Amino acid sequence: MTVTIRHCTTDQAAEVRATLLEVYAEVYADAIKDDPFAGVDRFANGLDNWSARPGWSCVIGYDDGQAVGYAYGAVLPPNARWWGGLLTETDEDLVRETGSRTYALSELMVRVPWRKTGTARQLHDALLAERTEERATLLVRQSHPKVHALYESWGWRTIGDLRPRIEHAPLMHAMLLDLAQH
Ligand SMILES: CC(C)(COP(=O)(O)OP(=O)(O)OC[C@H]1O[C@@H](n2cnc3c(N)ncnc32)[C@H](O)[C@@H]1OP(=O)(O)O)[C@@H](O)C(=O)NCCC(=O)NCCS
Repeated sequence: MTVTIRHCTTDQAAEVRATLLEVYAEVYADAIKDDPFAGVDRFANGLDNWSARPGWSCVIGYDDGQAVGYAYGAVLPPNARWWGGLLTETDEDLVRETGSRTYALSELMVRVPWRKTGTARQLHDALLAERTEERATLLVRQSHPKVHALYESWGWRTIGDLRPRIEHAPLMHAMLLDLAQH
């Protein structure tokens, strides 16, 4: 299946905000019920912070006019907080940010009827194809090994354990993807 992709940047954030929150509330309906880290208000705050950042970009997939999923992220600034919760010892250079080195893929989600259709991969590829950074990073929950395996099958490599320095944050795998070869 191929969905129609809409590309957005900070200028369109206000316009697409309600759509992004609506899809989030549906995709994460179960988690929202019992995981304080998954609350809609918390997600909305995160979305507003991310979408105000320089270099924020978002792709939304549409099938027959309805939003079926999306992905977004932004460039990491120098001394990015992103790496602050890294628990695995790594080479200092690996987490050195310049403000133009690394694109952080913050969210990727697809509504259930469009899972296993290639839509997630299409969104992922459409988002990253536009990027000029040398690499991308993402965090995936260690309690979701199948999602972790999915990202590995898309070429991402795991660099260590990371727990974001945010209340209720779960333990994550930190991953990197070389964008030059993507
Ligand atoms: C991640 C996602 C975009 C991938 O879509 P996809 O490429 O169509 O792949 P699938 O939905 O088949 O997911 C791959 C496997 O991971 C599992 N999985 C996906 N999301 C999961 C989650 N949030 N928690 C636990 N397992 C999950 C699926 O059940 C599937 O397992 P299966 O092969 O045994 O059926 C989609 O599953 C999704 O939107 N998930 C919910 C949001 C999410 O977790 N995003 C990732 C944040 S890092």
